[in-house]
Amino acid sequence: MDFFDKLIIPSSGANLELLKYLLSLALIIFSIYSGVLLASLILSFIYKITASRKNNNNYFKLSKDYIGLITPNKTMTLGLGVVPIFSIILIYIQILNKVNNDIILFFIISFCVFFLALVFIYLYKFTLIPVEVQNNENRTKRINTIAGIAGIVFLMASLRLFFGLINLSSDSDNWSFTGGFFDIVFTTQAVIKFIQFITISFSISATAFIVKYFYWDKFEENEAQDYSDYAKKINSWLALGFAFIQPFILAIDIYATPDKLMNSGSFLFGMLSLIALLIFMHLSYAGVRYNKYQSISYSFYLILLAFTFIILKDQSALSLSSRQQILTLADKYGQFEIALLEKEGKKAPQVNGEEIYKAKCTACHRFDQKLVGPPHKEILIKYLNNKEGMVKFILNPVKVNPEYPEMPNQALKPKEAEAVVEFMFKEYGNKLK
Ligand code: HEC
Repeated sequence: MDFFDKLIIPSSGANLELLKYLLSLALIIFSIYSGVLLASLILSFIYKITASRKNNNNYFKLSKDYIGLITPNKTMTLGLGVVPIFSIILIYIQILNKVNNDIILFFIISFCVFFLALVFIYLYKFTLIPVEVQNNENRTKRINTIAGIAGIVFLMASLRLFFGLINLSSDSDNWSFTGGFFDIVFTTQAVIKFIQFITISFSISATAFIVKYFYWDKFEENEAQDYSDYAKKINSWLALGFAFIQPFILAIDIYATPDKLMNSGSFLFGMLSLIALLIFMHLSYAGVRYNKYQSISYSFYLILLAFTFIILKDQSALSLSSRQQILTLADKYGQFEIALLEKEGKKAPQVNGEEIYKAKCTACHRFDQKLVGPPHKEILIKYLNNKEGMVKFILNPVKVNPEYPEMPNQALKPKEAEAVVEFMFKEYGNKLK
């Protein structure tokens, strides 16, 4: 699909690294926002139904407060929902360009459905009317129910698809993927991750509810004591209950993750999220048990932190598998730059192996002397008939010899690595014997 190519701005390797950090940031914002949106929409809908069944205005107020939690104004929806998901998809188009256009197409579909869901959610919000006037407003009441259901269904569908795709693309083995919607959404991993996403979102929503209405907005306690007591209690229980199952889900998630996607980063973030969750539960329990809600604003930050760590854990898997794609893209950028210079009638700068060697390698390597790294005399003999192997190693160093530390990646482009290897054999090749 050539259309996607128009969206691609060729990027240098450094820019692509930066894109990865932007991606993590946008993912954190969007995951938290969309999760709280879904959870508070569901809670609002449940309480709306309960309110008209039991003819109780406290339930109605709860329903209204839930939906008001995450949609106080359109700027917030735009800034925390639409802009982040749009940026994430643009970044994925960059990374997956020419690799798999089906995945890109699915990403765009998920965005459109997400947008549709937002329309229904706002319709739901504006047609939510108090119990006592409901009997005269049958039409509005019906529209409200339909909008609520449509909002939940579309939001759920778009998020299932979106996070399924994120999960799919975090493993480059899947980049040749050619399946359909259900193959994305119903893999074991996608299901586990979605359960994790939605349950922790309920916990965040419930905590945010208490923090927003009772601490930030300074609820008038004497105005409706029974409402305030009920709202605090029910939300603390929700926050605590959904947090309680997180460690189990985390364990299942780690167990189900393929070994090759686990690294020290994902393990570290998993541990950190566990610690944040434990402290969170401790504080929330104090709220429920002893009616101490003061510490709730700390627990709000803790649960946000726990969720952030979970997202970073999954992101370290992506950085693991997209390294190769980033190198390929960086190489493409090099060719693009050269073409541009030639068009302007200038000569493209030659990649100079000697310069790169002197600038980047001599700090650790000498020809016949052991420095931080092994002497090149030994290395060149090893790779005498395997120059490609040497290029590959330089682009992506791995641990080889236990006597040395691991060589840090020198961030060379493929063309530069080839030039360095060329130079080294030319310069030192005849001194080997
Ligand atoms: C910061 C120090 C450092 C720099 C800079 C460095 N290296 Fe290394 N290099 C090492 C170390 C340490 C090893 C040994 C790694 C091992 O055995 O696990 C190594 C090993 C190698 C090997 C041997 C791999 C093997 O299979 O045994 C090659 C080839 C190599 N370096 C090439 C280069 C080139 C080319 C550059 C410049 C672009 C470079 N290195 C820059 C530290 C460095």
